[in-house]
Amino acid sequence: MKIGVIGCGSMGTMLLRQFSVRYPADDLLAFNRSAEKLQAVSDICTVCGSCRSLAEQADIIFLCVRPADLPAVLTEIKDAVLPDALLVSLNGSVTFEAIAGILPHKTAKAIPSVTAEIGRSQTLVCYNEAVTEADRQKLEALLRCMGSVTVLPERELGMGSELVSCMPGFLASVFDVICREAETHTAIPAEQITDMLLQTVASTAALMTETGMDFQEVVTRVATKGGITEAGTAVIYGQFPETAAELFRRTLAKRAQTAEKTAALMRTYTENKEMQL
Ligand SMILES: NC(=O)c1ccc[n+]([C@@H]2O[C@H](COP(=O)([O-])OP(=O)(O)OC[C@H]3O[C@@H](n4cnc5c(N)ncnc54)[C@H](OP(=O)(O)O)[C@@H]3O)[C@@H](O)[C@H]2O)c1
Repeated sequence: MKIGVIGCGSMGTMLLRQFSVRYPADDLLAFNRSAEKLQAVSDICTVCGSCRSLAEQADIIFLCVRPADLPAVLTEIKDAVLPDALLVSLNGSVTFEAIAGILPHKTAKAIPSVTAEIGRSQTLVCYNEAVTEADRQKLEALLRCMGSVTVLPERELGMGSELVSCMPGFLASVFDVICREAETHTAIPAEQITDMLLQTVASTAALMTETGMDFQEVVTRVATKGGITEAGTAVIYGQFPETAAELFRRTLAKRAQTAEKTAALMRTYTENKEMQL
C-alpha cells in the first residue's frame, strides 16, 4: 500500500514520522509546496515532484494543507487520483460536500491530536457515503499506529475536535494560568510547580479512568464541607462556566466560518473551471 502525504507542515510531518515506524520509505510518498520542508522528511519517505505525481501513485492520500490551500490541491490532483484511492482530509471544518464540489471521490476526515507524538492520539474519523468497509478498516488500522481511533458522524466532528484535538491546547493554557498565579504566592521554583501540577493532572486522570469515578465524585471526595478545597471549587463553579461557554461559542463560530469560507472558495474554483470550458 502506498501512503501519500500532501503538505509537510506540522501535521503532515507528524503523520510521516509515525507511519515511518511501520512503513518503509518506498511506501511513503510526500509532497510539499516549499522544498525545505520536503527536504526535512526526505530520509523517511519518497519525495514526489508534485501533488499530481503523488496522486498518480497513492492508495491513500492525506491532505495536510490548510483550508485555504485545499481547493488548489484538489484541483491539481482531480484527474490523477487512482479510482480506488481514499482521500483523507485532516481538516475537521471543511465539509465532504465542499470537497466533492471539486473532487467527488471516496473521502474520509481524520483529526489526530498532538499526543500522537507519544503514540496516544485519539484520532477522530468520519466517512462520506462512497467509502467502503474495506477502506475503513485500512485507514483505521493505519491510524492506530499512533493511538486510538474514534468514529463520529460528520456533524459531530466540530465538538469532537474541540474535545480531543484542540483540548491539549486548552488544558495547557488553563494550567499555564494556574502555574503563573501559584508562582506569585510561593517560593517553590516554577519548574517544580509545573512538575507537581502535571503529576496531579496525570494521577487524577488515572484515578478516574481506573476506578470509574466521575468529576463530581472527585470534587466531593476532596472538597469536604466548609474546608479549603471547597472554598476553591466554589470559585471555579461560580466563575468558570461563563469562560467555558464563551470558549465554545467562539471556537464553534470560528469553525463554522472556516467551513463557509472554504466552501465559497471551492465554489469559486468550480465556477472558474466552468467558465474556462
Ligand atoms: N496543527 C494541529 O494540531 C492540527 C490538528 C488536527 C488537524 N489539523 C489540520 O491539519 C491541516 C494542516 O495543518 P498544519 O498545522 O499541519 O498546517 P501547516 O503546518 O501550515 O502545514 C501545511 C503545509 O501545507 C503545505 N502546502 C500548502 N499548499 C500546498 C500545496 N499546494 N501543495 C503542497 N503543499 C502545500 C505548506 O507548505 P509551505 O509552508 O512550505 O508553503 C505547509 O507545509 C489543517 O487543515 C489543520 O486544520 C491541524
